[in-house]
Amino acid sequence: MVSDVASFRRDFPILGRSVHGRPLTYLDNAATSQKPQAVIDAISHYYSFANANVHRGVHLLSEEATVAFEQAREVVARFLGLPESRGCVFVRGATEAINLVAESWGRAHLNSGDEILLTALEHHANIVPWQIIAEKKGAKIVVAPVTARGEVDLEAYQKLLSSKTRLVAFAHVSNALGTINPVVKMTQLAKAVGATVLIDGCQSAAHFAVDLPALGCDFYCFSGHKTFGPTGIGVLWGRPELLDQMPPYQSGGDMIRKVDFAGTTFREAPERFEAGTPDIAGVIGLAAALNYFQPRRELAHAHEQKLLQVATEKLKTIPGLRIIGEASQKVSVISFLIEGGHPHDIGTLLDADGIAIRTGHHCCMPLMKHLGISGTARASFAFYNTLEEVDRLAASLQRIQKMMV
Ligand code: ALA
Repeated sequence: MVSDVASFRRDFPILGRSVHGRPLTYLDNAATSQKPQAVIDAISHYYSFANANVHRGVHLLSEEATVAFEQAREVVARFLGLPESRGCVFVRGATEAINLVAESWGRAHLNSGDEILLTALEHHANIVPWQIIAEKKGAKIVVAPVTARGEVDLEAYQKLLSSKTRLVAFAHVSNALGTINPVVKMTQLAKAVGATVLIDGCQSAAHFAVDLPALGCDFYCFSGHKTFGPTGIGVLWGRPELLDQMPPYQSGGDMIRKVDFAGTTFREAPERFEAGTPDIAGVIGLAAALNYFQPRRELAHAHEQKLLQVATEKLKTIPGLRIIGEASQKVSVISFLIEGGHPHDIGTLLDADGIAIRTGHHCCMPLMKHLGISGTARASFAFYNTLEEVDRLAASLQRIQKMMV
């Protein structure tokens, strides 16, 4: 495993740099992951030798770009365990995906008195789009609580489901705490009352294999940049039959069948939701990232679970350090507080040691309120992190803790 990790690290040029004269210890992977050379090369190659618009040209470059673009959709489908790629829509990221579903599906399906069930651990991107469409349609937001360990209270969740529940949306994995939600069970319970289910997969896709048919949801989304791909590209998957019935989210080129001033008709999914020239380089970079990561996923998951276990044990020995979020199933994310220290100060002091973490509310203000805190310091690991980096984090926090008392 050690040699596997060493070889993974060589694939990521940025991991060789230093910060403030120290080797970079990059533990902010939940915010954005680093990119392997394969992704950087794919983007560079596209712009150097293959740049052309897709779906529009009869010339060779355009045909080649179109083939690469559509092959990328097949890569995404394979990555998600799907038998076909038609439900895979390229979007800017998970935030745009959720806005798309809230606005388009919500416009067509939500009515006054309907309920949208969320959980208390959602990212703002899986709260605010629902609030906006709920207000427009007279629907109500209902929130399933989270336990002190940072797990969704399943009993309460089940009780909140009813014939009024039109849509249920939840994270596969909590970005702030690392909790892996029991999404199959949550989906089954939601389906039993006839609700439509969206899973925000932003924090799951980069940590373990996601088999969408087994999850049973209607919509799933993830962002490329958290999955070793470029920023500004992501995927919304929806059941094709659902997507085909949804009104357009944005309109313009590529999503139309026929335009006439008397009226316009639209194409089916996925083109229906891909108005305008897409982020072609982003799509090609994303495919390179998924092709890079998919064969390494199993090893990655096992290694990250080891990092999580060792880091949790080491951090717990530091006096005054409290881990926030101790769910039984977690990805390699550790949120914590140190008595007497503000998370931002912890982050700044770690940075001086070359260690990058995120601090604050992690775009989860309702979760922080629910837990009675204003924010945390969060170390989030990827498969290229090492046990030596865990030691570096623990040693640095030992020193910082002494400064806080
Ligand atoms: N949602 C990202 C995070 O958790 C940005 O850091």
